[in-house]
Amino acid sequence: MLKYIQRRLREAVRFNSSRYRLYHVVADFASQAPPGSKVLDAGAGEAPFRQLFRHTHYQSADFTKVNKPYETPTYVCDLAAIPVIDGYYDYILFTQVIEHLPEPANVLQELQRLLKPGGKILITGPLFFEEHEQPYDFYRYTQYGFRYLIEKVGLSIERIEWLEGYYGTIGYQLNRIGQYLPWRPQNFRGSLERLLLPIFMVKMKLFCLLTSILFHRLELRYKHIATGYPKNYVVIASKRSVSQVEVTK
Ligand SMILES: C[S@@+](CC[C@H](N)C(=O)[O-])C[C@H]1O[C@@H](n2cnc3c(N)ncnc32)[C@H](O)[C@@H]1O
Repeated sequence: MLKYIQRRLREAVRFNSSRYRLYHVVADFASQAPPGSKVLDAGAGEAPFRQLFRHTHYQSADFTKVNKPYETPTYVCDLAAIPVIDGYYDYILFTQVIEHLPEPANVLQELQRLLKPGGKILITGPLFFEEHEQPYDFYRYTQYGFRYLIEKVGLSIERIEWLEGYYGTIGYQLNRIGQYLPWRPQNFRGSLERLLLPIFMVKMKLFCLLTSILFHRLELRYKHIATGYPKNYVVIASKRSVSQVEVTK
């Protein structure tokens, strides 16, 4: 019984409502792709969304330079130079990669080149997240930064939204506090501080971890976007079809 409770608690502490939201955004994008359409997962990593595209002709690209369990990509390459002909893909998935690119406009230009006219791209990236996959971590993005870069390469933005609501952002931050707060006596100076601060820090860690579970659960019930800020943005953009280009000339 105790082991069961421990396991459930560990699962609850590890639960990440942003990944839950991301999964559903990608599932919705995948459901729009007709069977057999050509899809590129750019910066696929462990390819967590591959199964959602099993009805399509799915390919992936990644430079595989970070130490993690990659799923072998179709193309091992830098995203700034993908060895595929112009206008090949109907859909491009580009999730949680843009912050890792030193020259994001070059990669967006390359993805624009690979999209068919009328094709769609799903882009997500963080506004608020700790450094990860070092040393390949360069930027965080506001919605204005996304708009500037995406429109600069000639893509049309259909929508920009918060990926998660503020409860998800809070859940994440509380979880990080719970994990990272120092609590050992040697982290502090003076005998009184060494006695009292570890007790305070351990209580804070427990409080933050438990309340992070609550906020992640709240996120699943309410996507609160009226105040606060998201952890990530999600953008759907498309490449204008030839007729649209002619009309706007
Ligand atoms: C945080 S992971 C995201 C993986 C996946 N798209 C997802 O949403 O879970 C970022 C991925 O981008 C890849 N990446 C980063 N910079 C790259 C570059 N210049 N060229 C190709 N892949 C790159 C990394 O190898 C990593 O797999």
